[in-house]
Amino acid sequence: MVARGKGAPVGIETIVVPDPGPGEAVVDVQACGVCHTDLHYREGGISDDYPFLLGQEAAGRVSAVGEGVAEVAVGDYVVLNWRAVCGRCRACLAGKPWYCFATHNAAQKMTLADGTELSPALGIGAFAEKTLVHAGQCTKVDPAAPPTAAGLLGCGVMAGVGAAINTGAVQRGESVAVFGCGGVGDAAIAGARLAGATTIIGVDLDDRKLEWARKMGATHTVNASRTDPVQAVKELTGGFGVDVAIDAVGHPKVFEQAFSARDLAGRVVLVGVPTPDMRIDLPLLDVFGRGGAIKSSWYGDCLPSRDFPMLVDLYLQGRFDLDAFVSETIGLDEVEAAFEKMHRGEVLRSVVVF
Ligand SMILES: NC(=O)c1ccc[n+]([C@@H]2O[C@H](COP(=O)([O-])OP(=O)(O)OC[C@H]3O[C@@H](n4cnc5c(N)ncnc54)[C@H](O)[C@@H]3O)[C@@H](O)[C@H]2O)c1
Ligand SMILES: [Zn+2]
Ligand SMILES: [Zn+2]
Repeated sequence: MVARGKGAPVGIETIVVPDPGPGEAVVDVQACGVCHTDLHYREGGISDDYPFLLGQEAAGRVSAVGEGVAEVAVGDYVVLNWRAVCGRCRACLAGKPWYCFATHNAAQKMTLADGTELSPALGIGAFAEKTLVHAGQCTKVDPAAPPTAAGLLGCGVMAGVGAAINTGAVQRGESVAVFGCGGVGDAAIAGARLAGATTIIGVDLDDRKLEWARKMGATHTVNASRTDPVQAVKELTGGFGVDVAIDAVGHPKVFEQAFSARDLAGRVVLVGVPTPDMRIDLPLLDVFGRGGAIKSSWYGDCLPSRDFPMLVDLYLQGRFDLDAFVSETIGLDEVEAAFEKMHRGEVLRSVVVF
């Protein structure tokens, strides 16, 4: 599924996937979720390197490996990640590989039939029967978890869960507000529940989303199209605000709401992805005076080798409901329609099944 130009509908193309070179692997994709980030790519919000091969929340089987690949073998069941850590950069050497500044992607390029090089979304490009990645982008997980569920960990769900448990470091008994209850926000809600938060407030503009947020673990919901969400969050937390406020939209207005809905010394986490034109205007005295932390969360500060198998195990034990994120399974030719459904708020995740 290829996006050829800014805003143009995506379409199916024949692509050429090279045999894996040193350190690379080819994966037969079994399922891949439709993420808002795919839409950002199509809209030119991430870069102008068209054509993009979209799709970055996928699970599948390794079908070929290149020279020197030891971490995975043909037949392994894997979730694809966009954080194949290098082990050598200053973050990795400092023992914080989830901040790795030099993550690996495949060295070779997949192309269109005419030889035009494709830019795979987030270095993955999994709306395709086969995709070429760096072997480190393949994280082995328990094959008992179906690909429709496991694949979601590859991007949005991991980003949301990690925004709560890794970046926000939600603790038992804390209060959390999540602004934007799409796939990412609902995953942050589920993550806050896993971490033991006792007040979890979902904020969205859409009542359907708020209903799903409750299923994921929100103890309260606020419709920000009718109610001032900052006021509402404060009322639900004894007038103080939440310990952790998560912006899972990526919009200046929402970020400012998250900033203001947080208790003194609380944490604000930005996991929604803004576009290049966006600016914020906050009283610097409040940034100082309210204390705490303002953090952004790339991929939920996850370490795939640590976090994917853990979340798959929690899923298989019935403690983390990945299936609840799957609104529908679709064919590859329905991605454009899935974008429209996402836009209309009808789905959490449409998942392409091969
Ligand atoms: N940080 C990361 O690593 C990472 C990873 C994946 C996705 N993302 C980003 O996370 C964001 C959410 O992705 P998604 O797939 O959940 O998208 P989505 O479209 O499914 O969800 C967005 C939700 O925000 C709600 N919303 C919009 N404006 C709002 C407002 N003013 N107040 C409250 N709610 C509002 C929408 O109704 C919708 O429910 C996107 O920006 C996406 O690019 C970030
Ligand atoms: Zn590194
Ligand atoms: Zn994504």
